[in-house]
Amino acid sequence: MTEAELYAVYKGVYMPALLHPPHSLKYYEDFSFRQDDILVATYPKSGTTWMQEIAPLIMSGGDPASVDTLPNWDRVPWLEEQRSCVLNLEQRPSPRMFATHFHYNMMPPSFFEAKPKVIYVMRNPKDVFTSSFHYYGIASYLVNPGSQSEFLHKFLDGKVMFGSWFDHVKSWLNAEDKERILYISYEEMKMDLRDSVSRIAQFLEKSLDAEVIEKIADRCLFKNMKQNKMSNYSTVPREFLDQTKSEFLRKGIVGDWKNQLTVAEAEHFDAVYKDQMKDPDNCNNPAV
Ligand code: A3P
Repeated sequence: MTEAELYAVYKGVYMPALLHPPHSLKYYEDFSFRQDDILVATYPKSGTTWMQEIAPLIMSGGDPASVDTLPNWDRVPWLEEQRSCVLNLEQRPSPRMFATHFHYNMMPPSFFEAKPKVIYVMRNPKDVFTSSFHYYGIASYLVNPGSQSEFLHKFLDGKVMFGSWFDHVKSWLNAEDKERILYISYEEMKMDLRDSVSRIAQFLEKSLDAEVIEKIADRCLFKNMKQNKMSNYSTVPREFLDQTKSEFLRKGIVGDWKNQLTVAEAEHFDAVYKDQMKDPDNCNNPAV
């Protein structure tokens, strides 16, 4: 199916129409944030599911039931997704946890009034591209990626779901109230998960013993998380997500782009990155 059939344009970016019908976007626009809400904000394929595992474990003091009983999309639901309207989120006790793929400037009015805590997870865009390329090939609600070079052009032009990676990252890096935002990268979490869990817990004002932090970090290792049916998307029908072609929890490594991009493609990517990120305010970007 074509872009026009599968995507809707909302606030200037492509959104998969099936998952984000107009009534769910309206629901998000009218949504009332609370100051003690916790929002996981990401560009797709940057480590959303990972944070949907880490944050509930931290907030529950390491209780495995916090990630074993509900699928990730219900335990830390995307506010822009159609399911959010039926989850009765208004009745959830504080602190509530949500996810969003929205750019900062797409956030609804109550976000700017309530100023909830935000965990913004960033990932090297070449790895985001690589992960996306595989994902677009298995998800029937997305436009088929076509050839790698076609998809690279679309990705760099922001003609993909949730628009341009560059705009997304720049919008959140330039956000106001930065003291309410924890910026953490996929690469940092890979390098030292225990330290990352500890930093996230501190940000969420949750005091945890060293053994609990260790236990959470161990549970959130790629190989362990992959076993969790509530996080590995194995309950999603194959017509929607064909994991026989490529798994959702695919490789979980840093630098897989080196196995994917040609030298010329990587050079082109670097040139676009340099041009798009030249604004000196954006010095916290994940290294390319
Ligand atoms: P790969 O396709 O490179 O393996 P998102 O959840 O934002 O859609 O991101 C999905 C990417 O995060 C996938 O990347 C997935 O494997 C990776 N991921 C999920 N959980 C992870 C974990 N515990 N450790 C490392 N990577 C993880």
